[in-house]
Amino acid sequence: MEEEKFPIVLTAALPAGGTGKTPFIRVYGEWKARQGYKVALIDLDHQCSLSELYDVYEIENTSLNLFKGGEVNFIPVEENIWLLPAHPNLQYEPARLRAEGTQNIYFLLEDWLYEHEELIKRFDYLLIDTHPDTDTLTKNALAVSTAQIGVVMPTEKSTNAIPKAEQALSDLKVDTYDKRHKEDRVTCELLLMGTDIEKIGKHYTKLSRQLLSLISDDNRFVGYIPHKELFAQAFSDEKQSIWTQLEKDSVVKEKSNQTFKYQLEGVMLAMDKKVEELSWH
Ligand SMILES: Nc1ncnc2c1ncn2[C@@H]1O[C@H](COP(=O)(O)OP(=O)(O)O)[C@@H](O)[C@H]1O
Ligand SMILES: [Mg+2]
Repeated sequence: MEEEKFPIVLTAALPAGGTGKTPFIRVYGEWKARQGYKVALIDLDHQCSLSELYDVYEIENTSLNLFKGGEVNFIPVEENIWLLPAHPNLQYEPARLRAEGTQNIYFLLEDWLYEHEELIKRFDYLLIDTHPDTDTLTKNALAVSTAQIGVVMPTEKSTNAIPKAEQALSDLKVDTYDKRHKEDRVTCELLLMGTDIEKIGKHYTKLSRQLLSLISDDNRFVGYIPHKELFAQAFSDEKQSIWTQLEKDSVVKEKSNQTFKYQLEGVMLAMDKKVEELSWH
């Protein structure tokens, strides 16, 4: 929590929709905020899912201005958490930037962060949510990130997206390689996080079993979040923090909820450890 340092930047990105990226950003952001860190969430998805989770429907001073210029407004949404909401027109940004022949097209966000150093250094963590693609805005986020978190569900669509994410990150590194200094300009590492792993009775579902086996074989996986109805609910109608739910006596008095809380905390700690290792480099 030192004032003078740039925050640690993490981006949830996987080129497949509905795999739990947005929930992960919120859950991890709230986890860090509860540890006392100052957390900025940036919604870069034109579908605005993260912004809507916090009931923010702002269309002025949004993350669109990171690329277009103009003011941006980090809105306080919870204790220690600020949100820079998305704008639907982010959708048209990659094509617009290309049409304008923008130079250094993958470092626009990096430039913005340096230009707003004073504002940005007030935060300890910058967590970026993206649209499920590998386009320019997502690459801008990866270019400033310590890690890309590919959130993976037990679905074919989701596991098929892992090599695509890997390829896109590798392409970005090749495209931006600094030939003069012979070094990578982009140092982001791909990490993976499983979610929605489901047990029916005593047995895992077939797809969950397959994902669990993938998780144990691939050390980029930091861990997984088990399937939990309470978790799903926190991201649908109620939109209440899962951590707030898991603090309620009425909730934790049920053993299965207590187990889930314990598992979720375990995964969050594993992520903390991994991120810490990467940021030492
Ligand atoms: N561990 C889990 N248990 C229950 N539901 C989950 C779990 N992980 C993710 N989900 C649900 O999966 C859905 C997918 O999230 P979504 O925001 O659509 O993903 P993305 O941001 O990747 O497009 C959400 O409704 C979320 O509640
Ligand atoms: Mg999303």
